[in-house]
Amino acid sequence: MIQLEHISKRFSGVARPAVDQLSLTVEKGKISVFVGPSGCGKTTILRMINRLVEPDEGTIFIDGKNILQMNPPLLRRTIGYVIQQVGLLPHRTIGQNISLVPELLGWPREKTARKVRELLEMTGLPPEEFESKYPYQLSGGQAQRVGVARALAADPPIMLMDEPFAAVDPIIRMHLQDEFLRVQQHIRKTICFVTHDISEAIKIGDHLVILNEGRLVQSGTPIEILTHPSNDFVSSLIGDDRGSKILDLIRCEGLMDPQAPLVDFPKDNGSRVQAVWPVKAALERMMKNNTDEVMVCREDQPAGILSWNGIKAHINRISGEKQ
Ligand SMILES: Nc1ncnc2c1ncn2[C@@H]1O[C@H](COP(=O)(O)OP(=O)(O)OP(=O)(O)O)[C@@H](O)[C@H]1O
Ligand SMILES: [Mg+2]
Repeated sequence: MIQLEHISKRFSGVARPAVDQLSLTVEKGKISVFVGPSGCGKTTILRMINRLVEPDEGTIFIDGKNILQMNPPLLRRTIGYVIQQVGLLPHRTIGQNISLVPELLGWPREKTARKVRELLEMTGLPPEEFESKYPYQLSGGQAQRVGVARALAADPPIMLMDEPFAAVDPIIRMHLQDEFLRVQQHIRKTICFVTHDISEAIKIGDHLVILNEGRLVQSGTPIEILTHPSNDFVSSLIGDDRGSKILDLIRCEGLMDPQAPLVDFPKDNGSRVQAVWPVKAALERMMKNNTDEVMVCREDQPAGILSWNGIKAHINRISGEKQ
């Protein structure tokens, strides 16, 4: 767990503090996403967690220990850092770039080599093609993936990721986000993830921290923030399609009626949805099939009925809560 208590940082010659009295907790094994406009202090926060920048005021604790009392190089070995501009060493191959920290830690050569190949596979860069390439031979998105692989190389419990997918086109980005979430299910790292894309934040965050001008504006789970934006700044960050984002986030199993009678339900796939699908996908299926009810299935077994009325009641509840 990472705790920031009343952290402030002012850079010399800049009138406004980059970070202003910030207090927050990053839960162990969860993805906390820092989101906010350019210049709101996101990178500075990450750099204070691994002591590349020292706060003027306040204290940061990792697992209850004040990081100012820890040796910075030792601290950084427990924290993987994916920097915003990737920063690969130009004269080293991709494989050598990824193995920098394991080498520093004196891992046996075979263990390092295995890890490099495993990470290249995981980030969608086939080792036989990419391991011996040089950074200048990569696209921006590929270089970012190498940055992620490099940060994961020494298996640190904490990861700081500064806009790791920013240079990737939307389709690849979606794929990388899915892959990242799948991997996180297994590795359960404590992750501080920076983005200024609210959709990305909602999709991958267990917890969101919304920042503006160095200050915390709101924090909570994606659904808490979508259903209860605390002010106009948060509402405008979310955008006009709040309802659609909510329906993207709630799974069919969350709104289905498990007690509804399943008799007489057509057997065709057109009226079936999977429990883990977003409600939005069920709505699309209803419209396509001109029906107002679909059967929700879990591992091919019927689990309940999702109805248009059920969805509408939920939307009414949410909008009622907002007023
Ligand atoms: N080394 C520095 N010296 C002076 N000012 C700095 C320094 N680093 C950051 N700042 C200033 O602190 C503020 C916060 O910067 P920071 O890089 O943390 O923002 P950010 O939220 O990461 O922005 P972006 O989304 O553009 O990456 C900005 O006003 C920036 O100009
Ligand atoms: Mg930044």
